[in-house]
Amino acid sequence: VSANTLQEAIAEPSRAGRALAHFNVSELAGLKAVAAAAKTVGQPVIVGASEGEREFFGARALVDLVRLLSRQMDVPLYVSADHSHSLGSLKEALAAGFDSVVFDASALPFVDNVERTREAVACAKSIAPHVLIEGELGFIGSGSVLVRRLGTNVAVRGSDLPTPDQAAEFVERTGVDLLAPAVGNVHGMIVEGAQPGLDVPRIAAIRAAIRVPLVLHGGSGIAHGQLVAAIQAGMAVIHVNTELRLAWRRGVEEGLARDKDEIAPYRILRPAVAQVSRLAELYIRLLSGQTLPDAHGATR
Ligand code: 13P
Repeated sequence: VSANTLQEAIAEPSRAGRALAHFNVSELAGLKAVAAAAKTVGQPVIVGASEGEREFFGARALVDLVRLLSRQMDVPLYVSADHSHSLGSLKEALAAGFDSVVFDASALPFVDNVERTREAVACAKSIAPHVLIEGELGFIGSGSVLVRRLGTNVAVRGSDLPTPDQAAEFVERTGVDLLAPAVGNVHGMIVEGAQPGLDVPRIAAIRAAIRVPLVLHGGSGIAHGQLVAAIQAGMAVIHVNTELRLAWRRGVEEGLARDKDEIAPYRILRPAVAQVSRLAELYIRLLSGQTLPDAHGATR
């Protein structure tokens, strides 16, 4: 892949019918795993970090490491400041050198979300015009967590989802470069009860109403066949975090269980790198059309 910027990578004509994977990381083992998966499959990947993840990793350290790994491993890696909730956090992300910033005012009513996001885009464009700014429309929860049951404050029912007209108005009035609309699913995974599914026709209708690329958040726990349908309907980037966190935790537990006297972090963390990498690889292949969805469980 010869794309230079994230914008070019997303718009790459050869990517039609495929999506870029956006994987969140909190620390180095996760980053190593995601970079290794990108290299193995030979596809560009977006490494993301939310405000909490950036605070733990160090925003500048993450950006610099992603650039370094991308050069060293000769694979396109991009870096995104996921879910920034304030102008202060947006400015910090711009100063740190991220390729894109997700500005998230989706918990606010439509008019306030438009106003806050418009202000954020104007601010970002005056500081770093080349950085892509993504807006969020419709609240789908805020954490990559395991939850007992579906929250009552999330937009998952058809009548609560943004309409194509609202999406078009949002893009027009805010000037965002990318749009993540609520399309039926939520952030995180539900441990008691079913995961709400994607409204694929709504994705297609929103796709037809706007000109900027569409981003799907909350990729964890969705049947793989649905993810493929969402890409065919127009999703260009898909975020996955909760499942990777779960793989990381299982890997750490495995590393600790192997030998209770083991204290070398690099031995303890090795299974975590392996598990996260394996899962990331599976998603990169799925999103880039390299595997049939039912090969990996269409209805998990
Ligand atoms: P999940 O944690 O549900 O995969 O969502 C991740 C996400 O959208 C991060 O922005």
